[in-house]
Amino acid sequence: MGFHFWAMVLLYFFLVFASVAFAEEIKPGSILRPTDELWPSASGNFSMGFHSTANNDNEYVVGVSFGHIKELTLAWTMGALPVIDGAQLRFQSDGDLVLFNATNNVVWKSNTSNRGVTSAEMRDDGNFVLKNGSSAVVWETFENPTDTLLVGQKFSEGKHLIAALYSLSVESGGNMSLKWRNRIIYWNTSVSSVSSGGLGLSLSSRGILSLANSTGFGYWTARSSDYTDIKITVRRVTLDSDGNLRAYGWHEDSQTWEVGWSAVEDQCRVYGLCGDNGICIYYDTGSHCVCPSLDFVAVDPKNTRLGCRRLQDIASCPNNQTMVPVNHNEFLSYPPELKSVKYTLGMTDCWQNCLRDTSCTASTVLVDGSGTCLLITSNFTSGYSSLDILSNSYVKVCGPGHPASLLSIPSMKAQRPSKVSVVGIVVAFVGAVIAVVVFEAGVWWICCRNNPKFAGLSTQYTLLEYASGAPVQFSYKGLQQSTKNFRDKVGSGGFGTVYRGVLPNKTIVAVKKLEGIEQGEKQFRMEVATIGSTHHLNLVRLIGFCSERRHRLLVYEFLKNTSLDNFLFGSTEQSRKLDWKTRFHIALGTARGITYLHEECRDSIIHCDIKPENILLDENFMAKVSDFGLAKLINVKNHRDRTLSLVRGTRGYLAPEWLANLPITSKSDVFSYGMVLLELVSGKRNFDISATSGGRKFSTWAFEQFESGNVLSIVDGNLNGKFDMDQVIRVFQISFWCIQAQSSLRPPMSKIIQMLEGNLPTGKPPDPKFFGFQSESSINVSDTTMSVATTSTCPPSSSSSKHVMVTSNSEQNMSEIIFSGS
Ligand SMILES: *[C@@H]1O[C@H](CO)[C@@H](O)[C@H](O)[C@H]1NC(C)=O
Ligand SMILES: *[C@@H]1O[C@H](CO)[C@@H](O)[C@H](O)[C@H]1NC(C)=O
Ligand SMILES: *[C@@H]1O[C@H](CO)[C@@H](O)[C@H](O)[C@H]1NC(C)=O
Repeated sequence: MGFHFWAMVLLYFFLVFASVAFAEEIKPGSILRPTDELWPSASGNFSMGFHSTANNDNEYVVGVSFGHIKELTLAWTMGALPVIDGAQLRFQSDGDLVLFNATNNVVWKSNTSNRGVTSAEMRDDGNFVLKNGSSAVVWETFENPTDTLLVGQKFSEGKHLIAALYSLSVESGGNMSLKWRNRIIYWNTSVSSVSSGGLGLSLSSRGILSLANSTGFGYWTARSSDYTDIKITVRRVTLDSDGNLRAYGWHEDSQTWEVGWSAVEDQCRVYGLCGDNGICIYYDTGSHCVCPSLDFVAVDPKNTRLGCRRLQDIASCPNNQTMVPVNHNEFLSYPPELKSVKYTLGMTDCWQNCLRDTSCTASTVLVDGSGTCLLITSNFTSGYSSLDILSNSYVKVCGPGHPASLLSIPSMKAQRPSKVSVVGIVVAFVGAVIAVVVFEAGVWWICCRNNPKFAGLSTQYTLLEYASGAPVQFSYKGLQQSTKNFRDKVGSGGFGTVYRGVLPNKTIVAVKKLEGIEQGEKQFRMEVATIGSTHHLNLVRLIGFCSERRHRLLVYEFLKNTSLDNFLFGSTEQSRKLDWKTRFHIALGTARGITYLHEECRDSIIHCDIKPENILLDENFMAKVSDFGLAKLINVKNHRDRTLSLVRGTRGYLAPEWLANLPITSKSDVFSYGMVLLELVSGKRNFDISATSGGRKFSTWAFEQFESGNVLSIVDGNLNGKFDMDQVIRVFQISFWCIQAQSSLRPPMSKIIQMLEGNLPTGKPPDPKFFGFQSESSINVSDTTMSVATTSTCPPSSSSSKHVMVTSNSEQNMSEIIFSGS
């Protein structure tokens, strides 16, 4: 019997048992790869193995996941960084469990070689253990936690939970604390010295956290608010990357993890949450990061949690510095390192002291009765602003300084969610309040007395400029006023109607009232944040949003020249405004906008609805793509529910994969873009079946004309023969490449830009007739359903868009499709 035979037997047993989620003892010699079945526990409650990360299918984290929960959650992770295809988890014959990355380097190991390890087991409580011949545990995940504790696991002295820059530990004496960079303690249990041994934190199945010694004597407890709810069967405590320790319970009804308890009640009090010089504030429900004044910019506008930097370094202007006020703000200062000097000083003396001290960067006078003046002399400054905070702060900057009103937006009046009462303090410090009021009145008098519209809204733009990444929230009432009760309709599309509006600061905006959005508040906000974080010259800019009860609105910059279709297919006079140079620039600009969405923004965005109606033009006819990111907002209960009859998108621009129920990728946008290119040159709707094209689809006819050298017959007559022939031919060739039925033949957007610019040869495109379509659609149905679920980000239609059905996939493609809406 050769090795192969036994390997086959082993494999057979492994497959059989793994597939019925039967925990088989894992023996040394076993290897797990990204594509293998996970190693499950006996009842499938937990599994060990490779899990695709949320942002990349080819990236994996190795660890223990919850088995019966559809949202991938890891209770334990191996190694700090994700691995890619080619990585292996080997349970070596010497008893060591080792994770190798794709280039065969050790990423993580259990360090259990030669300790008599003879088997591994994924246990039903979530503990993954390595055992020796007499079944004693040699190594276990419960003793080596990462960021999560499970029911039955004991977190004892000297251990750490770690997430990003934060850690949790139980110190000897029983003082359990949360730390930033292992230095600043921003939360602790203040348990006074406990001498008895065996101290540890554990979570009960009812969601009660307790810090107890080995005899079970408890010194500190925290109860999840839902501890009486017997329907919650799965619980965990996790140190999240935002520095808060939370107890979660899985709710069967809502199918989500709900927070039953969190250590830091007031999230903005987590030290360093907004990075260096970042200020944490609450908009409505969540915490957000902004910069302290207009003299700062976000280090990374896409991730405002990375902090802010001064536009000019203060070291460079020793003789020209100012202290800029930051009202209702406190710069946080926690033990043991009070990285600040304390004095008891009046407000003015306090900031003047900071100004004189070259090592001081910011100051705060606490309004807690002590009159303490904190001079921040460390190289890290973490701030918190709220109307609840009576303290005022100052930051040192170069030049005259430009204060910002962080809290002047109506919707931001929302207070921090905690119940921390400041009423008592308020009464005691009426004096301080009066000082604040007098001060603010002074500031108002100096800077804003000439502005009759000083009503709060006028500063929204200011805020937006420097807190880039966070679109402004508007109230429904405010938008009703701005749009004169939605009177001035300027357009309508698949997602809703657009109205013209004027903000109190006189900015003209386009307000889009979304229809058919069934997604919850949280998801809506997430999408808005994604859309808001895109900044590109060729994308319409999102200024703000409104989410109140059933109302979902988006506020965009207003573009004077409306959309491309009005020029292309409007009157001859309109069409003449688009000379060839302009058209070519529109083609290029649109391609740049889409390239950014596909390839350059953090979460790749597939537009799903590219058409002339969604290409807006500014006063200089610069193209700006609109409506991106909206496809995801339409409710998708279950991607797998997508059926042939429910495809959204617009007639004439839909890629064939929509109809074949194949995965929708960025190449589907390329198809639509190709159709738009064809229209830009021809000035004709590609789905018009006119006499010129002999009753055939325009694109089919155009390709034939192009092939036979009859280019002039396809070019828009309104150009009066004035165009660059080389460019026209290039554009035609690119558009025929884009509208290939087989998506793999279509070039990616970045290549298209290079082709348009003439930096990449276009080559001769094949006939774009839908030849490849049939072979692609014959792919095994179950395979395609699965791939749709993982790659498609485009949802089924909303009720407002047309329903499409394929009656036959032979012959003349689009004309065979019945648009049930028309
Ligand atoms: C594997 O790890 C080594 C050492 O840490 C590193 O240099 C290499 O880039 C990694 N390979 C991959 C594919 O991640
Ligand atoms: C397994 O470990 C236990 C505890 O360390 C030890 O007492 C026992 O002898 C070991 N058994 C074997 C077979 O190595
Ligand atoms: C717990 O630790 C914090 C931070 O170091 C400290 O301020 C506090 O006095 C400690 N409490 C006890 C009871 O030791």
